[in-house]
Amino acid sequence: MLPPRFSLQLTWLLKQYLLLSFFVVGAACDAPQNLRDLYDAIRAKRQCSNELATGFYSKSSGSNTFSYCGDRLQSSGIIYLQGRNGALANMDVDCDGVGGVAEDGRCRYELSPDTQNVTSFRDAVVGYGKGLKDLNPYVHPYVVFGNDKGTRHRAGWHPFDPTEKGMKPLSVMAVVCSGYQVVYGIWGDTNGDDGAKPMIGEASLALATACGGKGMNGDSGIDEDSILFAGFTGDEAVPGANGANWTATDFDSFEKSIEGLGTQLVGRIQADKTDKAGASGSGRIEPEWVHVAGAAAFVLVLGITLL
Ligand SMILES: *[C@@H]1O[C@H](CO)[C@@H](O)[C@H](O)[C@H]1NC(C)=O
Ligand SMILES: *[C@@H]1O[C@H](CO)[C@@H](O)[C@H](O)[C@H]1NC(C)=O
Repeated sequence: MLPPRFSLQLTWLLKQYLLLSFFVVGAACDAPQNLRDLYDAIRAKRQCSNELATGFYSKSSGSNTFSYCGDRLQSSGIIYLQGRNGALANMDVDCDGVGGVAEDGRCRYELSPDTQNVTSFRDAVVGYGKGLKDLNPYVHPYVVFGNDKGTRHRAGWHPFDPTEKGMKPLSVMAVVCSGYQVVYGIWGDTNGDDGAKPMIGEASLALATACGGKGMNGDSGIDEDSILFAGFTGDEAVPGANGANWTATDFDSFEKSIEGLGTQLVGRIQADKTDKAGASGSGRIEPEWVHVAGAAAFVLVLGITLL
């Protein structure tokens, strides 16, 4: 038996660890194995064979070799972004929509002067009849996917409309960030033709925060071309008016409401016969939270043993 004061301290430590691990894990969760395998396989394959559209930029200073990839469109009903030489996409931060709820200033004008605009499917969001005026970049984890034709007729402009390949507005998407963490998002916006170049790789502040932490803001996202953005085709990917907590006032509550559908959709991702055996595990980065959870488990066992 331990002196009572020591065991009290242990209990306190245990609580801190459990709270911490819960908090850290709350942002994103471990991707299911088949999604990890997909991530590894497409990076190992280096580039897309069935480019549905190409000529996009991940960074405006980079190359225009990024595509919407249809390699798994037939087998798994997904469309994803891919560059060359194993690159995926980076994640710029989008602040379009209406803030207010959960607003903490990270989308303020000085950081994000190109916003104050509506998201692409705002009318459908309003049409859900939940009292929303638009998506909220601080709450809703939306993905910017597809590139508008636009009206400016710029040279070298490349449009892509994911609905032509079966994706539906406001459907659930899967985003895999570093350390195989998955965040389920909503296809909620498209890339406009307001910039000089056709860009890809962008998500709302809420989604970016789940991937990259509180340092994300309207002017600062994730630079590395290591993010997998995958959209799912078909009506079954659409949660609809009552299948998601649209009126949630925080990211976690919204995320929880689409996790079930997200997991179900990921379930349809199949291995491809062109996948390299043993691709899984290459370039694995252990996320911080694995250590936190490990420490929590250790303290839990220690606590139970000693108390
Ligand atoms: C929003 O975007 C549309 C289309 O790109 C543009 O016509 C409009 O002026 C923008 N509105 C604001 C307030 O920036
Ligand atoms: C939606 O999320 C809010 C918190 O943001 C919560 O109070 C509410 O109960 C949730 N609604 C449902 C139907 O889960």
